[in-house]
Formats: sequence, structure tokens, C-alpha cells
Amino acid sequence: MNWTHKDLLDIESLSIEEIRHIFHTSSRFMEINSRSIKKVPILRGKSVVLFFAEPSTRTKTSFDMAAKRLSADSFSLASKGSSFQKGESLRDTVLTLEAMKPDAIVMRHNLSGSAGFIAGLLKCSVLNAGDGWNAHPTQALLDGFTLSRTWNDDFQGKKVLILGDIAHSRVARSDIKLFTRLGCHVRVCAPRTLLPPCTRSWPVDVYNDLYKACLGIDAVISLRLQLERQKAGLLPHIREYSTRFCLKQEHLESAAPGVKIMHPGPMNRGIEISSDLADSKGSLILDQVASGVAVRMALLYLYLARPKHEQEIPEG
Ligand code: CP
Repeated sequence: MNWTHKDLLDIESLSIEEIRHIFHTSSRFMEINSRSIKKVPILRGKSVVLFFAEPSTRTKTSFDMAAKRLSADSFSLASKGSSFQKGESLRDTVLTLEAMKPDAIVMRHNLSGSAGFIAGLLKCSVLNAGDGWNAHPTQALLDGFTLSRTWNDDFQGKKVLILGDIAHSRVARSDIKLFTRLGCHVRVCAPRTLLPPCTRSWPVDVYNDLYKACLGIDAVISLRLQLERQKAGLLPHIREYSTRFCLKQEHLESAAPGVKIMHPGPMNRGIEISSDLADSKGSLILDQVASGVAVRMALLYLYLARPKHEQEIPEG
């Protein structure tokens, strides 16, 4: 497939064939990641800036590792310790970074639309590592890839439940788009105050009762409860939230056999997911992390090896 995109901003801009091509390419990198020597020379001479204006463990580390395993040079910039803290604008920051001639900027930022904004300014590729509540496309792709490995690429008619703080979740928005595109039936379950008004226009079934939401599901993605929401008056008390919405084994008694448990991390154990379930046999939470490195290797390869796409991933 000839990869024509300059930027990865959201899931909407990818066709189903492109999503499947990303999964296929990620499988090749999963194999490379299982070798004792995990480094391949396909992005030698390329450079990637990781600009994270919000905290991250998984996304930042896996992009960094992905770049290094492909032999690209990676450089990290956080808002703390950068001139961002002195009031330099986002526009001036990214123009400054681009003047150093990177091939891609991977950015996380708290403003929805910020990735699209900088993509319009820059000639290098922009990969969105999470912008406000808007989108987290690489998380959705790694979630989809993780389930494609588990379900042998058969998503048709599978029931996927997304549970928790839907209103403030970029993961929920990107996952809903990805899983509906793949042919799944998507459900969301949350207190009414954590469901955005636009939920009505989404292609999802909405639940407020976790027991009913879990009936027949094949996978559940529990989301981090953003604890600052209580201060904003959207939750009466964290304990009340966890009594009704903390995912436990008892909720999954009516789920499909072999139901899979996922969480994008970081987890609040005992608030949105019980510790037992997070560590259970059905949990794919650490598989998601492993998939994250392979998917980000695939994305860097597809976006940066362009237009020399005839370049092959080396065989073992
Ligand atoms: N899932 C996710 O984006 O995790 P980090 O915030 O640790 O990157």
C-alpha cells in the first residue's frame, strides 16, 4: 500500500483498508520485538521529536522505543523545563522545533484540535499522541490491534463496552470510531454527568447500569476516572462512583465466554477497575502496552519511510 498521509490526527481520516494495513505492519514489528536484538535500520538518518506538553508514561516511552528500534534518532521535549513555561506560544514552539529539521513531531497537548493546528503549520509529519478530549488515535489503533490478535482479526458483530468517564476521554472518542469502523457494536456506560450531550449522535448504545451494559459483551475497556472531575462537581463522591461503576468480576458473569478486559492506563485500581480483574487471566492490559510499541513502530515506518515505500521490513 502506498501511504499518502502526511499526518496522523484522528481515526476518521483512515480508511478501513489503511487500518488493516497498520495492523498487518504492526504484526511484523511484534515479531521483531520478540527477537533478542530488536533494532532494524529502516529509519536510519530520520529524526523524531517527542513533544509532550502533558504527562505520559506509555505513549511517550513507546514512541521513543519505537523510534530507537527503527534506528531513528528521537529527542524529547516536555513543557516543564522548556521555554513553553516562559510563555512561548505553541505556534512558536513547533516552528522552532521544525527549524531543526525533524522528520516528525509526535505531540501530546491539552487543547483539543492542537494537533490539527500544528499539522497545518508544519511540513514535517505530525503524529497526534492525544489532544485534549478530541482524539488519541494511536491508543485506538493499539487497542484494535490487541483485539485483532486475540480475535484472529474477526471483529464483525463483537460487542465492545467502553466504561467510565466518556465525556472527557479522547480514548473513548477514538475507540468508538475505530471499533464501529471494524464492525463491532459499541456500548458506553457512565453516570449521566460523564456522558457528553453529543452521545446521542454517536453510533453507540448508552447504559447507566453496569450489570445491564455487560450482558453478552466480548470486551470491556475501562477508562481512567479523571479524579479532578469530582472537584468540578460532576461526581458526588469517588466512593459513590466506584460503588456503581468500578468493574468487578460479578459484572462479567453475564458477559460472553472469554470476555477480554482492557484499560488504556494509567489505572486507578479499586476506583474504575478492581485489582483482581486488572490482573486476571482475561486482562489484556499489558498486551496493550506491548502492542503499543509495535503499532508505533508501524506508524513511524509508514509515515517516515514515505515515499521510499518499496523499502522492506528486514526478515529475521
Ligand atoms: N494510555 C495513555 O495514553 O497512557 P499515557 O498517558 O501513560 O501515555
